[in-house]
Amino acid sequence: MKRTSIFIFLLAMVQVQTVFAANNKSNNEPDSVYLFSYATVKNNNHNGLHFAWSRDREHWFSIGNEFSFLRSDYGRWGSEKRMITPFLFLGPGGTWQCVWSLNERERLFAHAASKDLVDWGRQSYPEMNAGSNILRPVVQYDQQSGIYQITYTDAAGKYFRVITKDFKSYSPATEVSQAQYKNPSQTITLPEGSATGQMYRVPWSTVDQLINNYERKQYKNSLYNEFAKDDAQRFAGLKPVNAAISVQGANAKPISDLLLGIFFEDINYAADGGLYAELVQNRDFEYALSDKEGRDQKWNSTYAWTLKGEQTAFTMDSAAPIHANNPHYAVLQTTTPGASLVNSGFDGIAVRKGEQYNFSLFVKQLEGKGGKLLVRLVAKNGEVLAQANVQASSGTWKTSRAVLVPNADATDATLELQPLAAGRLAVDVISLFPQNTFKGRINGMRADLAQVIADIHPRFVRFPGGCVAHGDGLHNIYQWKNTIGPLQARKPQRNLWGYHQTAGLGYFEYFQFCEDIGAQPLPVIAAGVPCQNSGNGPHGGGQQGGIPMDQMDEYIQDILDLVEWANGDATTKWGKLRAAAGHPKPFNLKYIGIGNEDLITDVFEERFTMIYHALKEKHPEITVIGTVGPFYEGTDYEEGWEIASKLKVPMVDEHYYVSPGWFINNQDFYDRYDRSKPKVYLGEYAAHVPGRANNLETALAEALYLTAIERNGDVVSMTSYAPLLAKEGHTQWNPDMIYFNNTEVKPTVGYEVQKLYGHNSGNEYLTASINVSNNTEVVKKRIAFSVVRDSKSKDVIVKMVNLLPVTVNASVVLKDITLANTKGVKTVLQGKPDDKNLKPVISDCTVSENFSSELPPYSFTIIRIQTK
Ligand code: AHR
Repeated sequence: MKRTSIFIFLLAMVQVQTVFAANNKSNNEPDSVYLFSYATVKNNNHNGLHFAWSRDREHWFSIGNEFSFLRSDYGRWGSEKRMITPFLFLGPGGTWQCVWSLNERERLFAHAASKDLVDWGRQSYPEMNAGSNILRPVVQYDQQSGIYQITYTDAAGKYFRVITKDFKSYSPATEVSQAQYKNPSQTITLPEGSATGQMYRVPWSTVDQLINNYERKQYKNSLYNEFAKDDAQRFAGLKPVNAAISVQGANAKPISDLLLGIFFEDINYAADGGLYAELVQNRDFEYALSDKEGRDQKWNSTYAWTLKGEQTAFTMDSAAPIHANNPHYAVLQTTTPGASLVNSGFDGIAVRKGEQYNFSLFVKQLEGKGGKLLVRLVAKNGEVLAQANVQASSGTWKTSRAVLVPNADATDATLELQPLAAGRLAVDVISLFPQNTFKGRINGMRADLAQVIADIHPRFVRFPGGCVAHGDGLHNIYQWKNTIGPLQARKPQRNLWGYHQTAGLGYFEYFQFCEDIGAQPLPVIAAGVPCQNSGNGPHGGGQQGGIPMDQMDEYIQDILDLVEWANGDATTKWGKLRAAAGHPKPFNLKYIGIGNEDLITDVFEERFTMIYHALKEKHPEITVIGTVGPFYEGTDYEEGWEIASKLKVPMVDEHYYVSPGWFINNQDFYDRYDRSKPKVYLGEYAAHVPGRANNLETALAEALYLTAIERNGDVVSMTSYAPLLAKEGHTQWNPDMIYFNNTEVKPTVGYEVQKLYGHNSGNEYLTASINVSNNTEVVKKRIAFSVVRDSKSKDVIVKMVNLLPVTVNASVVLKDITLANTKGVKTVLQGKPDDKNLKPVISDCTVSENFSSELPPYSFTIIRIQTK
């Protein structure tokens, strides 16, 4: 028999299964049907794998309109994540193998496998050595050898084949003849139009499961799509509800005392132009076209700088920089003094009358006799707010400094530098920094913004991301070592949110800030793979191009060095650097996150495991936090949890941005978690409504969910809302917790909820039950409560959320709790669901072992009680 003939080709083999375990099959259902798998080109091939079924191959029924059972996760959102010509193959052992083309450019295809077509395993994107790209891959299987063949064509019309046993390692691709490329795909007519794909005869139970899965998802989506705008209709005729809460003071369990933290990422101009108090934009002339991937031609090393006046030329150079990490500097060639180099700041420079601003720059006299530079802060109307002369006569790079004290407030001043003598000057790292930073730190944080953050009383700070931590491609992974030491030697880089990060706010400043606000530092380090949405393929270091194995030791050493830098004494190599930066005492680092919602693949697992083992061995005192993907379910979540459980990682980082309806309907999410498995850090979450507002509806959904988190504070150790900051006019992501511009800080209503939790936390959860007078599920789910005790103050704190449009009359019975007095403190946040500017109202109240409290419609109430 010819070798090819023993392959099972799909075309020839519309497979008929003979043995079916038709579970719960009703009499009227068929034993088997035809199943058709396909994808469409709609939405630029983003809609993934679809199924349709038929009894007779003539009349087809699609399972959901464009409903996706498997989506491609390769590359960027929007332009990538395409599933082109998927080919589904039923392999030995009943495992479905699916391969598909990813794009028209790369020599990669995708693979995923499933036992039931509902739950899919990890995706992989093997790279081939032959062909210009990979089009229409087809799978065949040789039963004798147990080998799969994948045959594909390319844009040049050539054909290639690779073989694999396991879809993990592949032979080199070899060119084959067109005759050897047998694609058994068929075209059928569906109600929505024609579709091309593969056809199988399968047990009805297979299709039934697909339909059930689809319907279950539809049902859940309908629950998750509950928005307050429909409440009038949903709760029409609803009368005030009574809720009897009974608290068992003797039945307490310890919960985490770190529940409320913050997530800081340099997104939305959170760092440069935001929390980092530097007022000069592009101070180091390192902005680059690549920061915005060439989309903005003005975004280059001269961005935010202009020359005002004549007889001076302003050019860029990189021949002899201050430091290799900071290659560009400006050159001012002055024939006759009078012109100035002007910086426009971040949307202007905001200064306050009478405050002191530290001006500094690096300057080198390239030609001429030398002289001075006139430095001026100038208001929009041309008025000079402050000025000083600084030295500019050294033939080598030297720092010159001055203190500027504006004579008036201004919101949009500019900084001007005017050479006062003819000649050529090189200037770089031009900085204007308020002396009034948070806690007066040099190179510190903007005081008002930092204070609003500190006011949350966060127990930890996660940094530097988010996606910024693992970066857009290997070269963009955040490297902590590039962000410490003298500013001129730090390595700035492209911020994947489409701008530039100077690294002025670097690891030292993060740790210092944590200490200043009494929070634990929680650095998150890439797990040796860049962001799952990276735009660059393996050669550019995109998602699947993890750090090459021969560089992993060095990468791991960097992580170990971070622990030494943070915790080693001042005699250690890295501890010495920390001490030199002004912090001889260790920072007492306890937590490190490895990975950020990564796509869980073999590439990830291999690298994560190496890092985890190294940290565990060298620093068992550090709690490592793993990662389980960007959603509350799905392949990354399942596979991430499996890896973490297998390795016994102490904690994992979960992320989900979901609707208020999701929070309302998933209050038991953690009640079902296995307590023997890793603990949870809910590292990124927020309620999202259409239009992405941060309003009372989202804030109350978060408050309600946080009551469930407190109840599960034995398994959930930490939480952080995300993102934290957003500068008006520079926002890539909404909603955020705190908005700001150059002069104002605008905490959201969601911020108020976070702050209330930050100020009303406990370390013990008191068991309690609730009895609601209205027995309707949809009503009951909108009343949530939790009761905690803070063992230091002995205060018992009752939190109650009412997400209904009617009052809830709550009665609270405190059993086995001895009150210190009858004076309680009541805090209420209430309003209309779409209110965005609300503040909690605090009042005294009377409490007893049995007290009542009226919970207004759409409200969050906290009652704090002193006990003995
Ligand atoms: O919080 C914004 C982004 O959301 C984070 O960078 C990323 O981790 C998540 O997808």
